[in-house]
Amino acid sequence: MRSLIDLYPLSSYVDWAAKRNCDPILDVFKQLFPPSGDALELASGSGAHINYFAPHFPHIRFQPSDYDKDLFEAIRKMQAESANANVWDPVHIDLAKPETWPDATSHRYDVIFAINLFQVAPLAIAESVTQIAARVLKETGFLAIYGPFKIDGKYAAPSDEAFDQELRAANAPEWGLKDVRDVEKAANTHGIILTQQLALPANNFMLVFGRL
Ligand SMILES: C[S@@+](CC[C@H](N)C(=O)[O-])C[C@H]1O[C@@H](n2cnc3c(N)ncnc32)[C@H](O)[C@@H]1O
Repeated sequence: MRSLIDLYPLSSYVDWAAKRNCDPILDVFKQLFPPSGDALELASGSGAHINYFAPHFPHIRFQPSDYDKDLFEAIRKMQAESANANVWDPVHIDLAKPETWPDATSHRYDVIFAINLFQVAPLAIAESVTQIAARVLKETGFLAIYGPFKIDGKYAAPSDEAFDQELRAANAPEWGLKDVRDVEKAANTHGIILTQQLALPANNFMLVFGRL
């Protein structure tokens, strides 16, 4: 049975969600991004976001990544169609496999971002993402995580509760909406702190983290 988050063929839900949230995320990024530098996207999926943002930041080099190498052709196709010279070829980063993570000797980033990842993964993802940020973010860099979250054990909307249950039932009990406080706790163990918690449309949040 096809799930609402299938990536190939790209489910109409993921496609719709990406198109709906591109502009609200872009508005936040316009406030936060430095004028030039390097940005790493974790779990890029189809590449829809990175290729949408890239033309707005001509002096930022964008590095897409995913654990699923089958997605790379889709990311490359989107990059070619958008003629984005500042989007690099995708790299393989599996957040569950530290041996695939970037290390600071090869590259450091001004920005790391992940969109709609945390609800489709176990909480251990928070450890991985913040550990990578601690490892490869520049001193003044930031980590931005976008998606639906619970806050202090509460859902932001009744529809989030139904979505949470649906994700867990269709996939694994460890999936579903994470609590911002749990993500923050994982970040703190790696010297990364929550600096902004922005409420965006459709009950989603942008969590911004920086170094202590
Ligand atoms: C719901 S999709 C979101 C994709 C894209 N960011 C978006 O918003 O359209 C979740 C993405 O997380 C990726 N993903 C899941 N587990 C991962 C892991 N362990 N390491 C890296 N990527 C992972 C999937 O391959 C998929 O691209």
